[in-house]
Amino acid sequence: MPDKKDIIILAIESSCDDTGASIIHNGKIQSNIVASQQVHEQYGGVVPELASRAHQQHVLPVVDAALKEANVQSSALSAIAFTQGPGLLGSLMVGASFAKSMALGLDIPIIGVNHLDAHVLAHFIDATEVKFPYLCLLVSGGHTQIVKVISPEHIEILGKTRDDAAGEAFDKAAKMLGLPYPGGPVLDKLAQKGDPLSFKFPDSRVDQLDFSFSGLKTAVRYFIRDMPETNPNFVEQNLNNICASIQHTIVSYLMRKLIKAVKETGINEIAIAGGVSANSSLRNTIQSKAAELGWTVHIPALEYCTDNAAMIAQAGHFQYLADNFVGQDAVPYARLGK
Ligand code: KG4
Ligand code: ZN
Repeated sequence: MPDKKDIIILAIESSCDDTGASIIHNGKIQSNIVASQQVHEQYGGVVPELASRAHQQHVLPVVDAALKEANVQSSALSAIAFTQGPGLLGSLMVGASFAKSMALGLDIPIIGVNHLDAHVLAHFIDATEVKFPYLCLLVSGGHTQIVKVISPEHIEILGKTRDDAAGEAFDKAAKMLGLPYPGGPVLDKLAQKGDPLSFKFPDSRVDQLDFSFSGLKTAVRYFIRDMPETNPNFVEQNLNNICASIQHTIVSYLMRKLIKAVKETGINEIAIAGGVSANSSLRNTIQSKAAELGWTVHIPALEYCTDNAAMIAQAGHFQYLADNFVGQDAVPYARLGK
């Protein structure tokens, strides 16, 4: 049985295009290093093969930097956690193989972490005031879900997207507007100088707590195609207003579903997580709704919203306490099986 007194875990994140490593000591994050990949910008999206290669280049320096910043020798590690899925298979393979080899060399256990659970559990980084059960709106580039977090080991999905993720909706709309990749943060910035009510875009009417963003994507495409008929510079001249209106549509839609989830479950301990939780409008809107409706709301620090290894370390720490390890035969999974 692994020692539970002095737990030092190295975590590696490589699910998409960021290579991350983090050290957590007795539940406290000691370092959080991320190497982002600029190579994808020119292609307007993540190119999986290039991502895998860049992870190969970054993983060792990033792990070294995480150990160094935490002032930890690899011989002191209790376990190594890695992102097992979901994500790009080639990217996941790099982190998984590295973690397994290093753990084998050090003769310590390995922990396979679910990337989405880690986003949801990122609220425990540097904080202990989150209370179970809580509802979490998980909005990233690959997933959109509302989950009920009963405990670190028991996370129930109440609703999910049937097509695109919220981050994808931001990125695809931004791409159609000619903005650089990843478009979400760029669109957010432009929207801050625009009027969110200047244009009306439809959202989707899917049932229950599920989401759909494909209708919005089509509406934005037709809007951009049809509007210049009146003025060839229409998009350029109205960019801030268009961005603000698209953002308003997405954020209002997310909020409507979240309010519905609160009504249905009676839980008003609320959190947001994932890359889109960095969105300024979502952060502001949820704060004001929380004040209006009496919710307790948890919003992660910006560095823990987008992909990072500290959240893998935090989830890994919980798994270590629960003796939830994987063997050397563990394989990454691209898609969500849960
Ligand atoms: O969680 P994340 O880093 O990676 C995934 O697991 O997918 O999320 C990345 C997504 C991208 O779609 C990106 O455009 C979006 O988060 N994003 C934002 C903002 N910052 C990141 N979307 C809207 N506003 C932002 N400020
Ligand atoms: Zn993510």
